[in-house]
Amino acid sequence: MSIVIITGGSRGLGASIAIQCARRGMGVILTYNRNKQAAEKVVATIEADGGKAVALELDVSTRASFPAFRSAVAEMLAKTWNAETFDFLVNNAGYGLYNPIATVTEDEFDSLFRVLLKGPFFLTQALLPLMADGGHIVNVTSATSRVATPGVAPYASFKGGLEVLTRYLAKEFGERRIRANSIAPGPIRTELGGGLSEEFEALLAGQTALGRVGEPDDVGCMVASLLSDDNRWVNAQNIEVAGGYLI
Ligand SMILES: NC(=O)c1ccc[n+]([C@@H]2O[C@H](COP(=O)([O-])OP(=O)(O)OC[C@H]3O[C@@H](n4cnc5c(N)ncnc54)[C@H](OP(=O)(O)O)[C@@H]3O)[C@@H](O)[C@H]2O)c1
Repeated sequence: MSIVIITGGSRGLGASIAIQCARRGMGVILTYNRNKQAAEKVVATIEADGGKAVALELDVSTRASFPAFRSAVAEMLAKTWNAETFDFLVNNAGYGLYNPIATVTEDEFDSLFRVLLKGPFFLTQALLPLMADGGHIVNVTSATSRVATPGVAPYASFKGGLEVLTRYLAKEFGERRIRANSIAPGPIRTELGGGLSEEFEALLAGQTALGRVGEPDDVGCMVASLLSDDNRWVNAQNIEVAGGYLI
């Protein structure tokens, strides 16, 4: 059985990725930051479906906590799956910041940087010794790196950095047959940034070739299938999952 770690698996895209991976037979370690109850609900959904999942606490902005998190992962792997390694890492956790460049504060910038770029960088570094050779890293970026959307400059810049980091991960860990890809969702109906108002959703749907915004499962199913062996030759790519957004 392959085992996947998904950060930010308590809600939104991460919850869907966790459920869809479990439906395809993967063991799931999902993380939560503030919403333990929501994470436990995702675990219960997976178990009700006949799958196996555990939830661990993780704040990706706190690098000092990563060695303890790695130990917790090792313990869970041994206890739950009798395994020493996991196979896939999905760096998904994140939050949105809507503030034009003229008014972004240094604190806002630094906090977001720690979650969207520094966190995935050092978390991946910390977990790679536990990843099996032939594994796969999937980083969740954003279509905002391609399209300059007003008010999200730091967010889009860090997502762009994560896209670049993905190619470097693919290069440096290719000798272990570890692949790295990023997926760039367009607008998806989640609680990111407080969720979409009706008016904003209609605007975004009108900018999308398929005429609607995405649902979490549009991304969850894609990531789960990307992790399968059918996609074994897809490497170092940033793949937009957006229904044809602003084309
Ligand atoms: N929704 C979209 O339109 C969209 C588009 C492009 C890219 N994305 C990206 O997709 C990813 C998931 O977003 P979403 O839409 O699913 O948002 P969401 O519904 O708000 O969920 C965010 C998830 O990230 C976790 N999280 C937030 N801050 C964290 C931290 N400091 N440490 C660890 N976990 C943290 C949350 O955990 P708790 O709930 O436990 O606190 C939650 O599980 C993000 O990276 C986002 O940038 C989303």
